[in-house]
Amino acid sequence: MTHKSRLRGAMAVLAAVALTASLSAVTAQPAAADDVSLARVANPFAGGRAYVNEDWAARARSSGGGAIAGQATFVWMDRIAAIAGTTSGRGLKAHLDAAVAQGATVFQMVTYNLPGRDCAALASNGELSLSDLPRYKTEFIDAIAAILRQPAYANMRIVNVVEIDSLPNLITNVGSRPTAQGTTCDQALSSGVYRDGVAYALGTLGAIPNVYNYVDIGHHGWLGWTDNFQPFATLMGQVVRTAPATPESLHGFASNVANYGALNEPYFTVSDTVGGQKIREVAGGWIDWNNYIDEVSFVRAYKPVLESAIGHTVSMVIDTSRNGWGGSGRPTARSTSTDPITYMNQSRIDKRIHLGNWCNQSGAGIGERPRSAPTTGVDAYVWVKPPGESDGSSTAIPNDEGKGFDRMCDPTYTGNPRNANNMSGALSGSPVSGHWFEAQFRQLIQNAYPAL
Ligand code: BGC
Repeated sequence: MTHKSRLRGAMAVLAAVALTASLSAVTAQPAAADDVSLARVANPFAGGRAYVNEDWAARARSSGGGAIAGQATFVWMDRIAAIAGTTSGRGLKAHLDAAVAQGATVFQMVTYNLPGRDCAALASNGELSLSDLPRYKTEFIDAIAAILRQPAYANMRIVNVVEIDSLPNLITNVGSRPTAQGTTCDQALSSGVYRDGVAYALGTLGAIPNVYNYVDIGHHGWLGWTDNFQPFATLMGQVVRTAPATPESLHGFASNVANYGALNEPYFTVSDTVGGQKIREVAGGWIDWNNYIDEVSFVRAYKPVLESAIGHTVSMVIDTSRNGWGGSGRPTARSTSTDPITYMNQSRIDKRIHLGNWCNQSGAGIGERPRSAPTTGVDAYVWVKPPGESDGSSTAIPNDEGKGFDRMCDPTYTGNPRNANNMSGALSGSPVSGHWFEAQFRQLIQNAYPAL
């Protein structure tokens, strides 16, 4: 796979000679007259037209979301059955065919079915246990690869976000970390299953010339602390060197997937001093020693660190599906308080009760619409999490997807040390993760920023 390093960065991307050589070396795919479109470009979103998931669009339209139903959201392969299609959505091939019919040039998807999935939470536990790595490889990743490889899709750039939450959990939720909880993440780490599963997904899908793999970097409120930042990059450096992955099989990183972190906090900075105190050093404050207060600053700072761990240029994207924080509660100016805690709470547009809250957040709004090259260091704003799809159920609901009940989705819960025992901030009445949550969708529309 060394060919791809020649195709990456530094405009070598456009070297037609290298391209032709690489295609024949890599794949048995029949050569087509327009093979040149298969060149890995630095920014796969640039100049592209992304597929609008028609299943999501129909739900959005019928829930009052006509204004956003034409936006491109990612297709989630979240269980083996999703590949063929389920009652909640068409299968992968049907989506790809619909994309071709739309004239789309970019197809955006998530592969999300790692054995022992969501080891630090319960809401998105999946169908495979840690002993199911062989099934993950053959029944999930290989089955997806067989579809993506088909010549009919060779002219689309397929953006694939690999296994949300998995690798960040191996840094923060293991061993003696204060945020460790239970033993599943310890086992996911010690067994090597997360590393090997992600490496298999990267290597197998990354061998397809038009697939662009992205790995999840959590968000600023997860890996933004010094203790987590470099260790995650170091882990990534190991994962991309675990066969069949290679550094070239990874194209970039996705931040804030399904989270609510603001793109930019316009009314305060991480280095402000208030009442004689550095606000980031105030115990129990909003920042609590994090190095970042928003996603753009986090992603810009992370890019060179990740590049040095991976060994090549990486592309960075941010999920803006639900980080708008508009509506009447949005501040319009910096607080004048001289109390640092009050200052941060009044100035911030991210109105979560605690930065660690993640489930169906009350008060959130649709964020920036998907677009390419929105700001320095960011290749795209994307909607990875389809707005309106739940993060988890607010009460225990039996289901056949392996989903559990995480009390971070229960609005009455105050028992989690990871959010300092604050309220969860979750909306009530939510269905299991991935299922349509109309009340949340309507609130997201209401609080959109920029407004719709
Ligand atoms: C769920 C998946 C779902 C995805 C997108 C995740 O939290 O576990 O089943 O496809 O969200 O909504």
